[in-house]
Amino acid sequence: MQTVLITGANRGIGRATADALVARGCKVYYAARSIENLPSGDLATPISLDVTDPTSIARAVVFFEERKEALDVLINNAAIIGRADVTSFDVEEITRVMDTNFNGPVRVTKAFFPFLEKSPSARVIHVSSGMGAISDLAGDHAAYRFSKSALNAFTISLARAQDRVKVVAVCPGWVRSDMGGKSAPRSLEEGAVGIVGLALNQIESGKFYRDGRVIPW
Ligand SMILES: NC(=O)c1ccc[n+]([C@@H]2O[C@H](COP(=O)([O-])OP(=O)(O)OC[C@H]3O[C@@H](n4cnc5c(N)ncnc54)[C@H](OP(=O)(O)O)[C@@H]3O)[C@@H](O)[C@H]2O)c1
Repeated sequence: MQTVLITGANRGIGRATADALVARGCKVYYAARSIENLPSGDLATPISLDVTDPTSIARAVVFFEERKEALDVLINNAAIIGRADVTSFDVEEITRVMDTNFNGPVRVTKAFFPFLEKSPSARVIHVSSGMGAISDLAGDHAAYRFSKSALNAFTISLARAQDRVKVVAVCPGWVRSDMGGKSAPRSLEEGAVGIVGLALNQIESGKFYRDGRVIPW
Protein backbone atom coordinates (compact mmCIF):
# COMPACT_ATOMS: atom_id res chain seq x y z
CA MET A 1 0.00 0.00 0.00
CA GLN A 2 1.42 3.37 -1.02
CA THR A 3 1.40 6.31 1.36
CA VAL A 4 0.64 9.67 -0.25
CA LEU A 5 0.61 13.22 1.08
CA ILE A 6 -1.13 15.85 -1.05
CA THR A 7 -1.34 19.58 -0.34
CA GLY A 8 -4.48 21.61 -1.04
CA ALA A 9 -6.52 18.43 -0.60
CA ASN A 10 -9.66 20.08 0.79
CA ARG A 11 -11.17 21.13 -2.54
CA GLY A 12 -10.68 21.25 -6.30
CA ILE A 13 -8.27 18.96 -8.15
CA GLY A 14 -6.38 18.16 -4.95
CA ARG A 15 -9.49 16.78 -3.25
CA ALA A 16 -10.50 14.79 -6.35
CA THR A 17 -6.97 13.35 -6.59
CA ALA A 18 -6.89 12.42 -2.90
CA ASP A 19 -10.30 10.72 -3.11
CA ALA A 20 -9.29 8.82 -6.27
CA LEU A 21 -6.09 7.57 -4.60
CA VAL A 22 -8.04 6.36 -1.57
CA ALA A 23 -10.41 4.55 -3.95
CA ARG A 24 -7.32 2.86 -5.46
CA GLY A 25 -6.23 1.62 -2.01
CA CYS A 26 -3.58 4.23 -1.12
CA LYS A 27 -3.19 5.62 2.37
CA VAL A 28 -3.66 9.35 1.82
CA TYR A 29 -2.78 12.29 4.04
CA TYR A 30 -5.17 15.10 3.06
CA ALA A 31 -3.06 18.19 3.81
CA ALA A 32 -4.98 21.48 3.92
CA ARG A 33 -5.22 24.81 5.68
CA SER A 34 -8.66 23.91 6.94
CA ILE A 35 -9.25 20.25 7.75
CA GLU A 36 -12.92 20.37 8.80
CA ASN A 37 -15.10 18.22 6.56
CA LEU A 38 -12.19 16.11 5.33
CA PRO A 39 -12.56 12.31 5.31
CA SER A 40 -10.98 10.38 8.14
CA GLY A 41 -10.58 6.61 8.33
CA ASP A 42 -8.23 3.71 7.66
CA LEU A 43 -7.01 5.18 4.37
CA ALA A 44 -7.73 8.89 4.86
CA THR A 45 -6.02 11.17 7.39
CA PRO A 46 -6.51 14.95 7.49
CA ILE A 47 -3.36 16.92 8.27
CA SER A 48 -3.23 20.66 8.89
CA LEU A 49 -0.72 22.37 6.57
CA ASP A 50 -0.35 25.87 5.14
CA VAL A 51 2.40 25.80 2.50
CA THR A 52 3.36 29.44 3.23
CA ASP A 53 3.82 28.87 6.97
CA PRO A 54 7.02 27.12 8.14
CA THR A 55 5.56 26.56 11.63
CA SER A 56 2.51 24.83 10.19
CA ILE A 57 4.77 22.64 8.00
CA ALA A 58 6.95 21.74 11.00
CA ARG A 59 3.83 20.71 12.96
CA ALA A 60 2.66 18.59 10.01
CA VAL A 61 6.06 16.83 9.98
CA VAL A 62 5.71 15.98 13.68
CA PHE A 63 2.15 14.74 13.12
CA PHE A 64 3.32 12.56 10.20
CA GLU A 65 6.39 11.27 12.04
CA GLU A 66 4.23 10.01 14.91
CA ARG A 67 2.21 7.86 12.50
CA LYS A 68 4.38 6.61 9.68
CA GLU A 69 8.03 6.01 8.82
CA ALA A 70 8.11 6.35 5.04
CA LEU A 71 6.34 8.48 2.46
CA ASP A 72 6.03 7.09 -1.06
CA VAL A 73 4.39 9.98 -2.91
CA LEU A 74 4.35 13.72 -2.19
CA ILE A 75 1.97 15.71 -4.39
CA ASN A 76 2.55 19.48 -4.27
CA ASN A 77 -0.86 20.61 -5.50
CA ALA A 78 -1.79 23.72 -3.46
CA ALA A 79 -1.67 26.93 -5.47
CA ILE A 80 -3.26 30.32 -6.01
CA ILE A 81 -3.89 32.25 -9.21
CA GLY A 82 -2.64 35.73 -10.07
CA ARG A 83 -4.48 37.67 -12.75
CA ALA A 84 -2.34 40.75 -13.50
CA ASP A 85 -0.79 41.10 -16.95
CA VAL A 86 3.01 41.19 -17.13
CA THR A 87 2.95 44.86 -18.23
CA SER A 88 1.53 45.87 -14.85
CA PHE A 89 4.80 44.70 -13.24
CA ASP A 90 2.83 43.81 -10.12
CA VAL A 91 5.66 42.85 -7.79
CA GLU A 92 3.32 42.42 -4.81
CA GLU A 93 1.19 39.88 -6.64
CA ILE A 94 4.27 38.11 -8.02
CA THR A 95 5.73 37.85 -4.50
CA ARG A 96 2.47 36.50 -3.04
CA VAL A 97 1.88 33.95 -5.81
CA MET A 98 5.51 32.81 -5.86
CA ASP A 99 5.43 32.28 -2.11
CA THR A 100 2.50 29.83 -2.38
CA ASN A 101 3.16 28.21 -5.76
CA PHE A 102 6.96 27.99 -5.75
CA ASN A 103 8.36 28.55 -2.25
CA GLY A 104 5.51 26.41 -0.88
CA PRO A 105 6.49 23.24 -2.79
CA VAL A 106 10.18 23.87 -1.98
CA ARG A 107 9.36 24.14 1.76
CA VAL A 108 7.09 21.10 1.79
CA THR A 109 9.48 18.96 -0.28
CA LYS A 110 12.38 19.90 2.00
CA ALA A 111 10.35 19.01 5.10
CA PHE A 112 9.16 15.63 3.81
CA PHE A 113 12.26 14.59 1.81
CA PRO A 114 13.71 12.53 4.69
CA PHE A 115 10.51 10.43 4.74
CA LEU A 116 10.60 10.02 0.94
CA GLU A 117 14.21 8.85 1.11
CA LYS A 118 13.05 5.91 3.25
CA SER A 119 10.74 4.65 0.50
CA PRO A 120 12.07 2.27 -2.19
CA SER A 121 9.81 3.88 -4.82
CA ALA A 122 9.54 7.53 -3.81
CA ARG A 123 8.29 10.30 -6.03
CA VAL A 124 7.42 13.98 -5.87
CA ILE A 125 4.67 15.17 -8.20
CA HIS A 126 4.43 18.90 -8.79
CA VAL A 127 1.03 19.98 -10.05
CA SER A 128 2.15 22.58 -12.55
CA SER A 129 0.44 24.08 -15.60
CA GLY A 130 0.94 24.38 -19.33
CA MET A 131 0.65 28.13 -18.62
CA GLY A 132 4.14 27.89 -17.10
CA ALA A 133 5.69 26.10 -20.07
CA ILE A 134 8.48 28.26 -21.51
CA SER A 135 7.30 27.20 -24.98
CA ASP A 136 3.81 28.63 -24.25
CA LEU A 137 4.46 31.81 -22.19
CA ALA A 138 2.20 34.85 -22.75
CA GLY A 139 1.48 38.14 -20.96
CA ASP A 140 -1.65 37.24 -18.98
CA HIS A 141 -1.68 35.77 -15.43
CA ALA A 142 2.00 36.71 -15.21
CA ALA A 143 2.67 35.84 -11.57
CA TYR A 144 1.00 32.45 -11.97
CA ARG A 145 2.98 31.68 -15.14
CA PHE A 146 6.28 32.68 -13.48
CA SER A 147 5.49 30.51 -10.46
CA LYS A 148 4.79 27.45 -12.59
CA SER A 149 7.89 28.04 -14.78
CA ALA A 150 9.92 28.19 -11.55
CA LEU A 151 8.21 25.04 -10.26
CA ASN A 152 9.16 23.29 -13.50
CA ALA A 153 12.78 24.45 -13.06
CA PHE A 154 12.74 23.08 -9.49
CA THR A 155 11.42 19.78 -10.87
CA ILE A 156 14.24 19.42 -13.40
CA SER A 157 16.96 20.51 -10.95
CA LEU A 158 15.87 18.20 -8.14
CA ALA A 159 15.45 15.28 -10.53
CA ARG A 160 18.99 15.76 -11.89
CA ALA A 161 20.56 16.28 -8.46
CA GLN A 162 19.74 12.84 -7.06
CA ASP A 163 18.18 9.54 -8.06
CA ARG A 164 16.62 8.27 -4.83
CA VAL A 165 13.38 10.19 -5.37
CA LYS A 166 11.74 10.64 -8.78
CA VAL A 167 10.52 14.17 -9.43
CA VAL A 168 8.02 15.12 -12.12
CA ALA A 169 5.67 17.97 -13.04
CA VAL A 170 2.16 17.50 -14.39
CA CYS A 171 -0.43 19.70 -16.09
CA PRO A 172 -3.96 18.54 -15.25
CA GLY A 173 -5.47 20.34 -18.25
CA TRP A 174 -8.09 23.09 -17.95
CA VAL A 175 -10.37 21.99 -15.13
CA ARG A 176 -13.72 23.26 -13.70
CA SER A 177 -12.47 24.24 -10.23
CA ASP A 178 -12.66 27.56 -8.37
CA MET A 179 -9.39 28.39 -10.13
CA GLY A 180 -10.27 27.06 -13.58
CA GLY A 181 -13.81 28.48 -13.67
CA LYS A 182 -17.07 27.12 -15.07
CA SER A 183 -16.10 27.17 -18.76
CA ALA A 184 -13.29 24.64 -18.42
CA PRO A 185 -13.85 21.44 -20.38
CA ARG A 186 -12.60 18.97 -17.74
CA SER A 187 -14.31 17.85 -14.54
CA LEU A 188 -12.33 17.66 -11.30
CA GLU A 189 -12.21 13.88 -11.67
CA GLU A 190 -10.85 14.18 -15.23
CA GLY A 191 -8.22 16.63 -14.00
CA ALA A 192 -7.15 14.16 -11.32
CA VAL A 193 -6.63 11.21 -13.71
CA GLY A 194 -3.18 12.23 -14.94
CA ILE A 195 -1.94 12.97 -11.42
CA VAL A 196 -3.22 9.64 -10.09
CA GLY A 197 -1.48 7.87 -12.99
CA LEU A 198 1.86 9.46 -12.07
CA ALA A 199 1.41 8.41 -8.45
CA LEU A 200 0.74 4.77 -9.32
CA ASN A 201 2.45 3.97 -12.65
CA GLN A 202 6.03 3.84 -13.97
CA ILE A 203 7.37 7.36 -14.53
CA GLU A 204 10.52 8.97 -15.86
CA SER A 205 12.07 11.44 -13.43
CA GLY A 206 12.65 15.01 -14.60
CA LYS A 207 9.78 15.10 -17.10
CA PHE A 208 6.64 17.23 -17.59
CA TYR A 209 3.46 15.22 -18.15
CA ARG A 210 -0.09 15.78 -19.33
CA ASP A 211 -2.55 12.88 -19.74
CA GLY A 212 0.22 10.34 -19.13
CA ARG A 213 2.40 11.71 -21.95
CA VAL A 214 5.58 13.79 -21.76
CA ILE A 215 5.07 17.40 -22.93
CA PRO A 216 7.61 20.18 -23.69
CA TRP A 217 8.86 22.44 -20.89
N1 LIG B 1 -8.01 24.42 -12.62
C1 LIG B 1 -7.25 24.40 -13.70
O1 LIG B 1 -7.72 24.55 -14.84
C2 LIG B 1 -5.77 24.15 -13.57
C3 LIG B 1 -4.99 24.09 -14.74
C4 LIG B 1 -3.63 23.84 -14.65
C5 LIG B 1 -3.06 23.63 -13.40
N2 LIG B 1 -3.83 23.70 -12.27
C6 LIG B 1 -3.17 23.47 -10.97
O2 LIG B 1 -3.87 22.45 -10.27
C7 LIG B 1 -3.69 22.65 -8.86
C8 LIG B 1 -5.03 22.64 -8.17
O3 LIG B 1 -5.79 23.73 -8.69
P1 LIG B 1 -7.37 23.83 -8.55
O4 LIG B 1 -7.88 24.18 -9.87
O5 LIG B 1 -7.90 22.67 -7.81
O6 LIG B 1 -7.45 25.16 -7.63
P2 LIG B 1 -8.50 25.57 -6.49
O7 LIG B 1 -9.80 24.94 -6.73
O8 LIG B 1 -8.40 27.05 -6.40
O9 LIG B 1 -7.85 24.91 -5.17
C9 LIG B 1 -6.63 25.38 -4.70
C10 LIG B 1 -6.24 24.57 -3.49
O10 LIG B 1 -4.98 25.07 -3.00
C11 LIG B 1 -5.13 25.34 -1.62
N3 LIG B 1 -4.22 26.36 -1.13
C12 LIG B 1 -4.04 27.64 -1.58
N4 LIG B 1 -3.14 28.27 -0.84
C13 LIG B 1 -2.71 27.39 0.11
C14 LIG B 1 -1.78 27.45 1.18
N5 LIG B 1 -1.10 28.56 1.46
N6 LIG B 1 -1.58 26.33 1.93
C15 LIG B 1 -2.28 25.20 1.67
N7 LIG B 1 -3.20 25.09 0.71
C16 LIG B 1 -3.41 26.18 -0.07
C17 LIG B 1 -6.58 25.75 -1.45
O11 LIG B 1 -6.95 25.66 -0.09
P3 LIG B 1 -7.96 26.74 0.63
O12 LIG B 1 -9.34 26.15 0.50
O13 LIG B 1 -7.44 26.79 2.04
O14 LIG B 1 -7.81 28.05 -0.09
C18 LIG B 1 -7.25 24.70 -2.34
O15 LIG B 1 -7.34 23.48 -1.66
C19 LIG B 1 -2.93 23.96 -8.71
O16 LIG B 1 -1.56 23.69 -8.55
C20 LIG B 1 -3.18 24.66 -10.03
O17 LIG B 1 -2.19 25.59 -10.34
C21 LIG B 1 -5.16 23.96 -12.31
